Amino acid sequence: MSIAIRPYHPSDLYSLYQICLKTANSGQDGSHLYRDPELIGAIFAAPYAVAEPDLCLIVTVDEVPSGYILGTRDSAAFATWAELNWFSHLRRRYPLPAEGDHSFDAAAIRSIHEGYSPEPQLASYPAHLHIDLLPAAQGQGWGRRLIEQFLARLRELGVCGVHLGVGKANSGAVQFYSRVGFQRVLEADSWIGYGRLL
Ligand SMILES: CC(C)(COP(=O)(O)OP(=O)(O)OC[C@H]1O[C@@H](n2cnc3c(N)ncnc32)[C@H](O)[C@@H]1OP(=O)(O)O)[C@@H](O)C(=O)NCCC(=O)NCCS
Repeated sequence: MSIAIRPYHPSDLYSLYQICLKTANSGQDGSHLYRDPELIGAIFAAPYAVAEPDLCLIVTVDEVPSGYILGTRDSAAFATWAELNWFSHLRRRYPLPAEGDHSFDAAAIRSIHEGYSPEPQLASYPAHLHIDLLPAAQGQGWGRRLIEQFLARLRELGVCGVHLGVGKANSGAVQFYSRVGFQRVLEADSWIGYGRLL
């Protein structure tokens, strides 16, 4: 088995949706949770690669895309970009669900209608990221390497800090972020905000 990191290529876009779904259940496969397999990737993966492809790295296992890190250098600017160029389009495809609909699809569609809203408490960490590896690429140091390369790129761009959010139920990822040098900067009911100054 040969594992490597390479830059994102536009032909990877479909893989981003797949990997996002296959890690959407607190790090485990979320395929059974969603009727529409595109929804979760349309929020947490694809728009970043479309808007800022230079910040997306792909992990391949025997040349097959099997993980990624992606994000934005400026969360406020990205929220504005997504409003104009991404969510406005998707809202026509996904009308707001009924109030009594508590499905995972309905929650994702509500997020599409809300758009991104950067947390004011995280403003001193203007960049943010998402990282997801399929099981074949986990636990071998590739996550740490992705974080290091992503942070190096942000430093080249002159970015002063980066944050991310992780669900409290994803205990593996919570431990990972502490091990790779992030500090807890925000605690909400169901998720923790981590930050790192650069
Ligand atoms: C979380 C994730 C990105 C970590 O990447 P990884 O390649 O598996 O982790 P690494 O092998 O680089 O580990 C780096 C460090 O974190 C620790 N770590 C990683 N995963 C861990 C886990 N599940 N439990 C405890 N520690 C963990 C490692 O022990 C290692 O510590 P050390 O270098 O100090 O010995 C990856 O497992 C993953 O994508 N999981 C599924 C999707 C997910 O949960 N994404 C995050 C959503 S917020």
